[in-house]
Amino acid sequence: MSDSSKPPKTPNTKGLAGVTAGETHICTVGKEGVGLTYFGYGIHDLCEHCGFDEVSYLLLHGELPNAAELSTWQAELVARRELPDALKDTLAAIPKDAHPMDVLRTGVSMLGCLEPEDMFESGPRDGREVAVRLLAAMPGMLCFWYHAAHHGKRIELDSGEPTLAGHFAELLSQAEPDPLIREVLDTSLILYAEHEFNASTFTGRIVTSTLSDMYSAVTAAIGALRGPLHGGANEAAMALIEQFNSPDAAEAAVMEMLAKKTKIMGFGHRVYKISDPRSDIIQEWSRKLSEQRAAKGNPSPLYAVSERIHAVLKREKNLFPNLDFYSASAYHFCGIPTEMFTPIFVLSRVTGWTAHNLEQRANNRLIRPSADYVGPPTRNVTPLAERS
Ligand code: COA
Repeated sequence: MSDSSKPPKTPNTKGLAGVTAGETHICTVGKEGVGLTYFGYGIHDLCEHCGFDEVSYLLLHGELPNAAELSTWQAELVARRELPDALKDTLAAIPKDAHPMDVLRTGVSMLGCLEPEDMFESGPRDGREVAVRLLAAMPGMLCFWYHAAHHGKRIELDSGEPTLAGHFAELLSQAEPDPLIREVLDTSLILYAEHEFNASTFTGRIVTSTLSDMYSAVTAAIGALRGPLHGGANEAAMALIEQFNSPDAAEAAVMEMLAKKTKIMGFGHRVYKISDPRSDIIQEWSRKLSEQRAAKGNPSPLYAVSERIHAVLKREKNLFPNLDFYSASAYHFCGIPTEMFTPIFVLSRVTGWTAHNLEQRANNRLIRPSADYVGPPTRNVTPLAERS
């Protein structure tokens, strides 16, 4: 085929960068280069004035709740926390060294076998009740496995905590959570809840577009979130910062990594080009937790190490931290095991995923893009006996 007869190539869309793949009412990312809104509310405004349970309601209903609606919502979530025995048995059988992301992926899939969509009162194709069930059940799923696998103990799932953040903190620590830790977790759940057509959300929308069920979409989304270029970056950031016991040691090592063109996890973003508006908020909590720790006589170099890496990346590459970078030290100071960092992202992002799946259902068309073919020209099959 001569060059002139080749079909025109589409512009370079590797990674679908810059491609608008649909419409959404739910979220804007980077509208002014830096912003993040959920149904029109800015992320700073939400963090200052709301708790995560208000934000989860917002994402699944499109409006913030009034006081009565919030207490009904929290009661509904509390009522849906318990897990079926068959799911507990499955979770207890998962080995201790499994990654908790795999535990959640398995747990969601198993719940889909035990409580399929068509068993809910609203019937198949509604999905809203499954969204609420998943949001309510996931902290228990994660913590039930954790204590069964690590401590040989089948924990009760009825904490006295009305909020999802407090419930998770209590199940994980098996004690009443420190108020500061509860607050940090609550804020971080708001920050992680929704981010437009990111890789995991888009994965879920693709699954939903085939008319598949909510459990399948969420299971697939968990798989997409697991990778270090997406949700796994908070764990990878922790693996980096915990190597250093001083800012100077961190600077020397990061300079070497940059010279070798190694990516520093927790920095950069596909959409944000100036800064990630969520980073300042979680950085401030990391700083407060670090100070609290020092005041209790247990200082840690991690916040100072993180600040130095931040300064080096800014100076050398003009790169900014994304939400995952300071989340690592913040979660660590909350006493959360590193392997739980990305699963916490799931406990929150399930709201964004399910909101998008419901939006996709409401105005569905199968998502099926095209590709520019760059393989061998059309040819005939040589029979097996004649192939060299
Ligand atoms: N560390 C070092 N350099 C980085 C970097 C990082 N974290 N993120 C981007 N860069 C550099 C790239 O090496 C590239 O440089 P080059 O033009 O000299 O090759 C340039 O910045 C553009 O990066 P690119 O990888 O093309 O951006 P992207 O849009 O494809 O990827 C991310 C965006 C998020 C995948 C990328 O920034 C990254 O891998 N970050 C680390 C993982 C992470 O924190 N993920 C969570 C995102 S919320």
